[in-house]
Amino acid sequence: MLLGALVLLAAVATSVSGDIQRPFATETHSAGFMEHLVPEVDSTVSLASITSEETFTALSHPRFPNHSVRIKKSTFCDPTVSVYTGYLDVDAGAKHLFFYFFESRRDPAKDDIMMWINGGPGCSSGLGLLFELGPCRIDMTKTSSNGTNWNPYSWNKEANIFFLDQPVGVGYSYADFGETVETTEEAARNVHAFITIFFETFKQFAGRPLHLAGESYGGRYLPVFASEIYDQNEIAKVEGRSTLNLQSIMIGNGITDISTLYEGRYQIECGTAALDVPFQHISTCVRMKSALPRCQALMRDSCIDRFDHMNCGAAVAFCDSEMTTAYWASGRNVYDVSMVCDDQDLCYPDENAVADFLNLPSIREMLGAESPGNFSVCSNTVSRNFVSHLDKWAHHTQHYVAALLERGIRVLIYAGTYDYQCNWIANKLWVDKLEWSGQSAYAKQQWRDWVVDGHHAGATKKSGALTFATVIGAGHMVPHDKPAEAQALVSRWLAKQDI
Ligand SMILES: *[C@@H]1O[C@H](CO)[C@@H](O)[C@H](O)[C@H]1NC(C)=O
Ligand SMILES: *[C@@H]1O[C@H](CO)[C@@H](O)[C@H](O)[C@H]1NC(C)=O
Ligand SMILES: *[C@@H]1O[C@H](CO)[C@@H](O)[C@H](O)[C@H]1NC(C)=O
Repeated sequence: MLLGALVLLAAVATSVSGDIQRPFATETHSAGFMEHLVPEVDSTVSLASITSEETFTALSHPRFPNHSVRIKKSTFCDPTVSVYTGYLDVDAGAKHLFFYFFESRRDPAKDDIMMWINGGPGCSSGLGLLFELGPCRIDMTKTSSNGTNWNPYSWNKEANIFFLDQPVGVGYSYADFGETVETTEEAARNVHAFITIFFETFKQFAGRPLHLAGESYGGRYLPVFASEIYDQNEIAKVEGRSTLNLQSIMIGNGITDISTLYEGRYQIECGTAALDVPFQHISTCVRMKSALPRCQALMRDSCIDRFDHMNCGAAVAFCDSEMTTAYWASGRNVYDVSMVCDDQDLCYPDENAVADFLNLPSIREMLGAESPGNFSVCSNTVSRNFVSHLDKWAHHTQHYVAALLERGIRVLIYAGTYDYQCNWIANKLWVDKLEWSGQSAYAKQQWRDWVVDGHHAGATKKSGALTFATVIGAGHMVPHDKPAEAQALVSRWLAKQDI
């Protein structure tokens, strides 16, 4: 979710508060216990040794003295695999990032590891879990005795998968004194620490291929997170330490290069990029077409060529006013142009159901969730903080993508064709003009249809480490709208096959 989350938020209470929570790791675990769990060499700790469903086991790492991980077993969501939940405690226990971990349904001892992160900024990965690609889906028919239904298209079909609520202030993640992370770069350090502690503690994961996946604002998060992991690997190599086997990033309907955003939205709304016949009024489209060059020029001057906080903010305000007001007024779902939204705040009733479910005391207890206040699907506070820093506009995230490609990290950019917010045209345009050594080779490649179960699923193009794929008829949340296609996409990507 992106941007529209701000609107969605109006209806759900934010869970961030200034309440002082009990500090971590004072009650149950002595330092000696933690040292016992994390010998520096020849570790024999395996995930299977974590058996308690009631209390957390704490893990620490000598190189991250200000970070530790608490983990417990759970019966949540997928009875066919081992499930764990827990917290990464940051800043000597002042901040707490919640995660879910589901083993692969195929071969957990050999399958790759994936981390899924929802966007927003400020939206919980619990939404991705229960609404999109997780092992179970929220039950909207009220027939399941446990509130969810098993998802045969879950992405843990062939991979071990983490869902992380980040940054602090999102989902079940929280800070003792209510602080929030306000930039993507700051969030990257925590994600790197989390993955390192996990991989180095549970030696069964050492060297296992790692993939970062996400959507929407994930288009900004993941290239930065992956770059942090890559750079830290280089430092670790020099110092003779073990590294993380980072293999790829997968971004669905992401926001990465801001320069193409409004052009893409124009083509979705006033062209035939999504629907066969444009749905917007001609007079509105003409007005937008006239405003677009000015919007682009203002953005180039104040956000892109040289960033100026106040002028960039003004440019974005102009672009939003001229280029997006008409869409919001059209009453259509910003995540799916084929759908009308009765209540613009809540196009998907499932999102309220997810919030209600993750707020149930019994579910919170099963998961070990300790955040103060109620769970909300998206945090208004976190979103506002990122926006106030112009986090999305101030940084040129596409340069991270290019740098990763140059270093052999595979990149999959996929997009549902019905999305308006982070639409496929905006993504195609920035990928086409991405400056990297494979740019001209990519340009020469032909588009090819890709097929799932005999159905035309979309179009794809690949050169070297870069793959682009559309998913026809899917909106912003591709795994929700086209579960079989999304699962096939991931399956082929993990197997290093062509899409
Ligand atoms: C841990 O936190 C303390 C206090 O904020 C800080 O001085 C120290 O540099 C941190 N250590 C690392 C390795 O980040
Ligand atoms: C919840 O119930 C559904 C439908 O009855 C079932 O398919 C699923 O496996 C159950 N989930 C758990 C975690 O037991
Ligand atoms: C949490 O939700 C309940 C039920 O909707 C409400 O009564 C309560 O005030 C909420 N608490 C907070 C801290 O928002």
